[in-house]
Amino acid sequence: MPSEKYSLSEFVSDLRRITSETTDERKILSMVRPLAKKAALDRSWLMKDHYRADPEQGFGSNLLHVETDNSLFIVAVSWLPGRGAPAHDHGTWAVVVGVDGPERNIFWERLDDGTRPGHAELRERGDKTMSEGDVVAMPAGAIHSVLNETAQTTLSFHVYGRHLNHTGRSKFDPENSSHEPFIIRTQ
Ligand SMILES: [Fe+2]
Repeated sequence: MPSEKYSLSEFVSDLRRITSETTDERKILSMVRPLAKKAALDRSWLMKDHYRADPEQGFGSNLLHVETDNSLFIVAVSWLPGRGAPAHDHGTWAVVVGVDGPERNIFWERLDDGTRPGHAELRERGDKTMSEGDVVAMPAGAIHSVLNETAQTTLSFHVYGRHLNHTGRSKFDPENSSHEPFIIRTQ
């Protein structure tokens, strides 16, 4: 069944309207969720080059859109076989839609109060393997890790309230109870 036509520029217009009408993260997430799914499955934004991933970081972050003030960051993320991202937060709201291939998301909860610099205690609290059309919506404080357990490169459509290198977010090492800044390379 062909999916409904909904271009990236229509999606960006809707994101601008939604985020100008409210700053309530829960409302933003509930409104963005179905639209992100529609935009992701429209696929008119998808190019072959988006499957190119960065072997050093394990994934490729391909810029589709960002506003001049670094808000509304949209990327196509490709994940190399057997690779993923360590536990991390985003420092902003996030909506991820599966486009090609299953990706396993592991969700973590933070147990400490965050007052000790560089220190973080995490506990795993569940996981979800997302495939084409599945959506994961996360508020700013959510922590997850991602794993491509398949033998092919997978790809997903990611929408964030702000460019991830401008939110002060962290990556976590649950075994050593530590965290540090998480900066990504976007191509
Ligand atoms: Fe993430």
